[in-house]
Amino acid sequence: MRKPIIAGNWKMYKTPQEAVAFVNAIKDRLAALPAAERVVCPPYVALPSVQAALAGTDIAVGAQDVHWQEEGAYTSQIAPGMLRGLVKHVIVGHSETREYQGVTDEMVNRKAKAALAHGLHPIIAVGESLAINEAGQTQQFVERQIRAAFDGIPAEALASIVVAYEPIWAIGTGRSASGEQANAIIGSIRAILADLYGHEHAEAMRIQYGGSVKPGNMAEFMSQPHIDGALVGGASLQEDSFVDLVRIAIEAKGLA
Ligand code: 13P
Repeated sequence: MRKPIIAGNWKMYKTPQEAVAFVNAIKDRLAALPAAERVVCPPYVALPSVQAALAGTDIAVGAQDVHWQEEGAYTSQIAPGMLRGLVKHVIVGHSETREYQGVTDEMVNRKAKAALAHGLHPIIAVGESLAINEAGQTQQFVERQIRAAFDGIPAEALASIVVAYEPIWAIGTGRSASGEQANAIIGSIRAILADLYGHEHAEAMRIQYGGSVKPGNMAEFMSQPHIDGALVGGASLQEDSFVDLVRIAIEAKGLA
């Protein structure tokens, strides 16, 4: 049984003070829901204080991106070694970094490998635009992203990796994929992973859905067999809705 994993991607929201107040307000409620992994991904500047506030809990902290180099003249960037001890997870390949920062499939692969080399657990995000979706090219497009992201990653690393399927047209739009649509694409991602690594490894990998996930549609996604959790933006920023998402995931998977 794959343990569900619910990650809040806070994007460019919450100051360090707001971030700490948020996790202090929900940590006891989340601690009471251990059947799912819970991850919060604040902006970089809030990572030390959020990490300190969550020390001693099993609520994990994640970063929203990482560079692949060990260090260097890369103004504004953060190296994987700098995140060691601060975070467990790191999102790589989020569509907003692909779109606004020119992150390519090759860079996603380098970021994932660099993260793994430093003991960090990548959440590898993939997903198609509306135009690709409407052209009926989703499966092929996502397949390319997955094969590129996993290039050269050995099977032993898979247990540390989570994949997030986030159709771009569903992010922040209120227009989510249906549970069945998301399950079909995520099933096809699992089939690609089976082709790359074998059935057993693919069955053990956790794959999230992301894109306008809310408490109101969470059960629809989480009742699908291939969907192992969610990567959530907007609905992860409010205390009650984030706790509800975790609770609904646990109930929908029959783990309550
Ligand atoms: P929303 O949940 O706000 O649609 O954002 C999804 C997302 O991009 C999470 O990484």
